[in-house]
Amino acid sequence: MTKTVYILNGPNLNLLGQREPEIYGAETLDDVAVACEDTAKSAGLTCRFLQSNWEGQLIDWIHEARDAAAGIIINPAALTHTSVAILDALNSFDGPVIEVHISQVHKREAFRHHSYVSQRADAVMAGFGTHGYLLALRHMQHLLG
Ligand code: DQA
Repeated sequence: MTKTVYILNGPNLNLLGQREPEIYGAETLDDVAVACEDTAKSAGLTCRFLQSNWEGQLIDWIHEARDAAAGIIINPAALTHTSVAILDALNSFDGPVIEVHISQVHKREAFRHHSYVSQRADAVMAGFGTHGYLLALRHMQHLLG
């Protein structure tokens, strides 16, 4: 049985490719999902790639992952900087957690420099563009052995 990794995406990431392309690039979230599926396959993993604009939905998926997933890769988008509830949900998950940001958040506005999720994340990727998801999957392969 292959191990499953949940890849969770927060608010506004459904608009990837249309939204501020000078910051987030031209690729769509569907493009990223396809690339993640390919990389997961070659890493011997199964991925479940999900996006929601709703904090509660992301929390429900994290709860589901407690039984269904070996690891979580999460780009919480703006909820990174505001959501204690997502941090609490991730603290209920036992496996590795990798936080991904497409942009280099530390080069941007000061409010993007703090992440609640980083208090739980085992690794953080920022500024690698959408390639960060694929690097995170490779690191997840390494962590899951
Ligand atoms: C983001 C960075 C966040 O600050 C922002 O709110 C996003 C996307 C990123 O992937 O670079 O929506 O998480």
